[in-house]
Amino acid sequence: MTVHFIGAGPGAPDLLTLRGRDLIAACPVCLYAGSLVPEQILEHCPEGARIVNTATLSLDEILDEIQAAHAAGQDIARLHSGDVSVWSAMGEQLRRLRALDIPYSVTPGVPSFAAAAATLGQELTLPGVAQSLVLTRTPGRASAMPSSESLANFANTGATLAIHLSVHNLAQVVSDLTPFYGPQCPVAIVWRASWPDERVVRGRLSSIEALAAGALQRTALILVGPVLENDDFHESSLYAVGYDRRFRPQSADSPFAGSVDDEEDRA
Ligand SMILES: C[S@@+](CC[C@H](N)C(=O)[O-])C[C@H]1O[C@@H](n2cnc3c(N)ncnc32)[C@H](O)[C@@H]1O
Repeated sequence: MTVHFIGAGPGAPDLLTLRGRDLIAACPVCLYAGSLVPEQILEHCPEGARIVNTATLSLDEILDEIQAAHAAGQDIARLHSGDVSVWSAMGEQLRRLRALDIPYSVTPGVPSFAAAAATLGQELTLPGVAQSLVLTRTPGRASAMPSSESLANFANTGATLAIHLSVHNLAQVVSDLTPFYGPQCPVAIVWRASWPDERVVRGRLSSIEALAAGALQRTALILVGPVLENDDFHESSLYAVGYDRRFRPQSADSPFAGSVDDEEDRA
């Protein structure tokens, strides 16, 4: 018996991985994290599966479900939204499973920041503009932030920021970031990326509050940084004519001549 933690993706049912779909189809029990996992994904469950929305359960109650399935020798598909490696509460479940000696596996999913970038038609790292993406959040009722992980500290790097769980704190986000990025810095808020009712508001640090004006509650991602409006970036060397690389050695003397392995990330 295994508990399969599966990233269910950002919302669109076809943004589930094939591995995730096949595991769901093979498990007689499915525990899913309520509001952010679309109902259509549950259609992959086998007929007669026990399907439980864990949104209203405590961690102890979730563990009761897992232990009951464990006793019955039934595999579980445990679905969380987006990818399971960020803000999924998977860590505390894994710790309990290790203590109980219950086997588990982890299957990644499409994270919401990637879905939001796709909606915007945007690369979040551009040569010479930003080469880092910070996945962060502001403090919430249930989660304090480590003091060194302030927006100001991240903003000081000039990286692109993908700020989760924070659209209700938009005023604070704007006031924390403006001293670093300036009032003209572009901002995009993507609400329910990849869902049928997805919405986008684009603006600048100086205007985004008025443009969003309370319209975008809850499931939204705030993206901030000059990459969001910058066509003035260098092209990467990777595809440049004359750039010596493993897949395109430029001469017989090239250290790459005869070699076939390459890494796209040498850009
Ligand atoms: C509990 S976290 C889950 C994050 C998730 N594990 C991921 O990989 O993105 C929920 C937050 O993720 C962001 N989020 C999740 N799904 C989203 C979507 N479809 N569109 C925009 N933001 C989303 C929002 O900031 C939301 O407040």
